[in-house]
Amino acid sequence: MLTRLDHVGIACRHLDATIALYESAFGLTVASIEVNDAQGVREAMLHVADGPAGASYVQLLEPTGPDTPVGRFLERRGEGIHHVGYGVANITAALASIGASGIRLIDERPRHGSMGASIAFLHPADLGGVLTELVQAPQ
Ligand code: CO
Repeated sequence: MLTRLDHVGIACRHLDATIALYESAFGLTVASIEVNDAQGVREAMLHVADGPAGASYVQLLEPTGPDTPVGRFLERRGEGIHHVGYGVANITAALASIGASGIRLIDERPRHGSMGASIAFLHPADLGGVLTELVQAPQ
């Protein structure tokens, strides 16, 4: 069902400074920078590598304000890993199968994610404390 590790989502307070850190530490390049008002984040996808099932990225997330999911995460936990995103070929089928296995779905239906992808989040309490995202790349 899972085709690849699509990205690791990392919460940060200062997106531009954190992009510069990943560029200088690892030589990564920015694939996209977007503001997602629905999720209350300004985010950057930095390309890590290409694999047979598609590319993998680091996703840097800066909240647009304190009263957002990532803003509250930073307040509680500080900067660090926020979620893990796995690639799937068919997100609707994957959600049905995962939901049937008893894992709670934060998103019953896919919504719009970075770079035109369809995404959905799964409940961290049912996955060992890891907020988990499914990603279907645009066709
Ligand atoms: Co993500």
